[in-house]
Amino acid sequence: MKKIGVLTSGGDAPGMNAAIRAVVRYGIYNNINVIGIKEGFKGLIESNTMEMSLSSVADIIHRGGTILGSARSKEFQEKEGFNKALRNIKYLGIDGMVVIGGDGTFKGAQKLSEAGIATIGIPGTIDNDLAYTQYTLGFFTALSTVLESVEKIRDTSSSHGRTNVIEVMGRDCGDIALYAGLAGGAEMVIIPEIEYNIEEVCDKIMQGRARGKKHSIIILAEGAGDAREISDEIEKRIGVSTRYSVLGYTQRGGTPSAFDRLLGSKMGARAVEMLSNSMTNRALGVRGSEIFDMDMEEALSAKKQFDNETYELTKILSI
Ligand code: F6P
Repeated sequence: MKKIGVLTSGGDAPGMNAAIRAVVRYGIYNNINVIGIKEGFKGLIESNTMEMSLSSVADIIHRGGTILGSARSKEFQEKEGFNKALRNIKYLGIDGMVVIGGDGTFKGAQKLSEAGIATIGIPGTIDNDLAYTQYTLGFFTALSTVLESVEKIRDTSSSHGRTNVIEVMGRDCGDIALYAGLAGGAEMVIIPEIEYNIEEVCDKIMQGRARGKKHSIIILAEGAGDAREISDEIEKRIGVSTRYSVLGYTQRGGTPSAFDRLLGSKMGARAVEMLSNSMTNRALGVRGSEIFDMDMEEALSAKKQFDNETYELTKILSI
């Protein structure tokens, strides 16, 4: 292994920079050249790259986002775009790739492996929607960001005796809402995995009010419903003053947590080590404090187990 390419693709996630830094520094330490591909797979098609040196990754471990830039590339999924990317990889003399991103990124990684380019995937997405790994890079930072907002909204919610619906990210996976619900003491979480019933939501608010609880926090995952509609409906049905907030892209940025920096650093180094050992088509994951690797196809076909325990506990603790 003489030259490794590294890219970040899909939605950015805090901790990606820590992973890039680790790939570059661990690579250089092992006499491997590292080339940064800008804006994900799009950069491979356009041969938009940057030489990475020890100093090119200085002062980035604590920064959110990705210094390489990120994109979602439709062109890479098509034959012509993909072949162009392959030609560029060969022209650039890249022997192996480390790709950091979510499931779309991993599908791209798999295609590269199948085409003979040794590729390792690092799970980077705030959504925590990759089933094979307990956590993805960026998830815990996003969770902390959400909690900061929940606490601020809770203050005003309490002052005004209101119900506040807070929409967080997560199209198909409600993990951000679910974990923020438990950690933020929400009265209810509404997530794509469990169909919600507006009557139940209203009953829960009224039960709380009956025993003197004046305000309530409802955390909604973006894929489970519309914050404004739900908020209006609650107010209409039970006459409780209700407001909504959409946290949006604040969740994607910010200083990565200690956990995400550690995870990014360890996975970045491990990915380089694996490429040096001629491994390919593997996805890195974490379970407990253990980092593991798994066949990419197996990782992609794993079905996410819904964390019902956390869901039920959130309900019990918010009675
Ligand atoms: O995958 C991460 C994520 O932030 C999702 O939670 C969200 O639905 C999506 O990306 C938004 O993507 P984009 O920034 O490309 O619109």
